[in-house]
Amino acid sequence: MTDTLLEWASLLVRWTHVIAGIAWIGSSFYFIALDAGLQANPRLDPRVKGEAWQVHGGGFYNIQKFSVAPEFMPEHLTWFKWEAYGTWIFGFALLILTYYMNPSVYLIDPSIMNIDGADAVVAAAASLPIGWFVYDRLCRSWFGRKTARLAIAGFVLLCVATFGYTHVFSGRGAFIQVGALVGTIMAANVLVVIIPGQRKTVAALLKGEEPNPIWGQVAKQRSIHNNYLTLPVVFTMLSNHYSFTYASATWSWLILACIFIASFLVRHWFNTLHTGATPDWRLWPAAAVPVVCAIALGAMGRPALPAAEAGTAVATFADVRQIVEQRCHACHAARPVFPGFGEPPKGVMFDTAEQIRRQAPQIMAQAVQTHTMPLGNVTSITDAERSVLGSWISAGASLN
Ligand code: HEC
Repeated sequence: MTDTLLEWASLLVRWTHVIAGIAWIGSSFYFIALDAGLQANPRLDPRVKGEAWQVHGGGFYNIQKFSVAPEFMPEHLTWFKWEAYGTWIFGFALLILTYYMNPSVYLIDPSIMNIDGADAVVAAAASLPIGWFVYDRLCRSWFGRKTARLAIAGFVLLCVATFGYTHVFSGRGAFIQVGALVGTIMAANVLVVIIPGQRKTVAALLKGEEPNPIWGQVAKQRSIHNNYLTLPVVFTMLSNHYSFTYASATWSWLILACIFIASFLVRHWFNTLHTGATPDWRLWPAAAVPVVCAIALGAMGRPALPAAEAGTAVATFADVRQIVEQRCHACHAARPVFPGFGEPPKGVMFDTAEQIRRQAPQIMAQAVQTHTMPLGNVTSITDAERSVLGSWISAGASLN
């Protein structure tokens, strides 16, 4: 019962996290595009940096941006912050519910680093504020004064963090930690820099003082960082469902680095498009190059299939069944017995011979071609057993 309730909690928290995330990323895309497309108009208030005309939902909108602030404090002012806070709060709750409550299954892979569950959770959670601190210092330092320099340093920092995570945690755990780190940086940008800057501007207006333009400029810089980080963060979240992205401990960090580059280029293309300038079409083939590299690295990272020794008999179904019972069935059953599992994960069940035969290609992908399953190798499957599964499947997965 508790397990079923926990799974419901996980679903509801995930649902809310995704909805808040859509609202947040949607507003990031919208405002960056709006900002880029503003047109100067000399007939408007000199404080107005530019205006935009938009048509949506059956009406026309005329939006003006005051680059520092209007002269007076508007009566109704809409703030954009709960999308960000909500995404982070529910995302962190989900991280706890899935990864931090089951570190031996999701966070640790003894073949990468054999750490204790509690230590892994402390290290994983502590790395988030530490990562934010380093990034924030970097932005505030002299280094942060030049955009290109800061962008390169930020990218290197992200790669170092990814390298570190993939060498401590399981592939899946490492990727989710990268996503959590990027998400934490983005939410902290809103909480610690953007909103406080806007509050100071509002306070100055209320006192009838001239707001300091630097508050808005710093907020804008962080808001642009957030915009470029949206695509990578979504990739890390989705990649959890595609084990070929994180299965190889050697290459997975480089695969993610390639995806970061591709995402930045694609985001950049859209951001230039919104300025009204002719976007540089070369950015698309340029983005395709790292994606192709990521695909190649994924292929390189597949564990070598153990060569069948000449003269050995093909594994029989009886051998396979025994391995599956011993290494997989605790989780993959109509009624799992593995602690923390109320339902068979992803509906994958190996209760009957027919279920095992039908899912042979998936077994091949998850337990032979990659070592994604058993998760964290909690049931200690051996390489020899993996090759028995592989040889049975390659020979046609027959039940005889
Ligand atoms: C500790 C529990 C556990 C054990 C043991 C385990 N699995 Fe899984 N398995 C999971 C979980 C959790 C998922 C869902 C992963 C996800 O959310 O993407 C999963 C998913 C799968 C999937 C579906 C993957 C997909 O993306 O569609 C297959 C196939 C699979 N496991 C096969 C196996 C095989 C084969 C074994 C034994 C060699 C095994 N599992 C052992 C927990 C386990």
